[in-house]
Amino acid sequence: MIIGLLTIGLIMTGMAHDNPSRATLYSLHKSFGITVLLLGLLRLWLRLRLYIPPLPEALPALERKLAHYGHYMFYVFMVAMPVSGYVMSTSYGLPVKWFGLELPRLLTVDKARGQLAADFHAWAAYTLIALIVLHVAGVLKHLIKERINLLARMT
Ligand code: HEM
Repeated sequence: MIIGLLTIGLIMTGMAHDNPSRATLYSLHKSFGITVLLLGLLRLWLRLRLYIPPLPEALPALERKLAHYGHYMFYVFMVAMPVSGYVMSTSYGLPVKWFGLELPRLLTVDKARGQLAADFHAWAAYTLIALIVLHVAGVLKHLIKERINLLARMT
């Protein structure tokens, strides 16, 4: 869902304003973005409560540390992306609907705050894309070079 949101986000912001699909993509983006927040919080709660399989012993200490910080950052983004999207929209005075259900507007209209949140949202999106690429590259490196299957740990 996150990869889909990154893709839709980049497509919709590049669309002409008179494109009839633009509004539909924006509203789908917001609905699925809020869904990511709800599922992300549920996931975080489960992760704190349940057993997490340890990283394989064969993984060097530095890579173990990098993986750990990488995972930590994913949780930060899972919350920061939707929250900044919400702050951006409400600060611009625009509605945020979750599949048709309008969410309460917890913030006053403030264009400067909206712009700040928009900048954060865009920069965080590019950082998240870089993190996903590094994450997948790391998994593939271990699989191909050292024959450590980290995908099994995920499931
Ligand atoms: C995991 C969740 C999310 C991801 C990964 C994500 C990703 C993105 C990306 C990649 C863009 C394009 C950035 C750019 O180049 O300007 C974007 C734009 C946008 N996002 Fe999100 N987003 C998420 C959640 C949300 C939510 C929850 C909302 C609102 C409630 C939202 C509202 C917007 C809006 C309004 C724009 C357009 C900004 C503009 O027109 O300049 N996003 N998002």
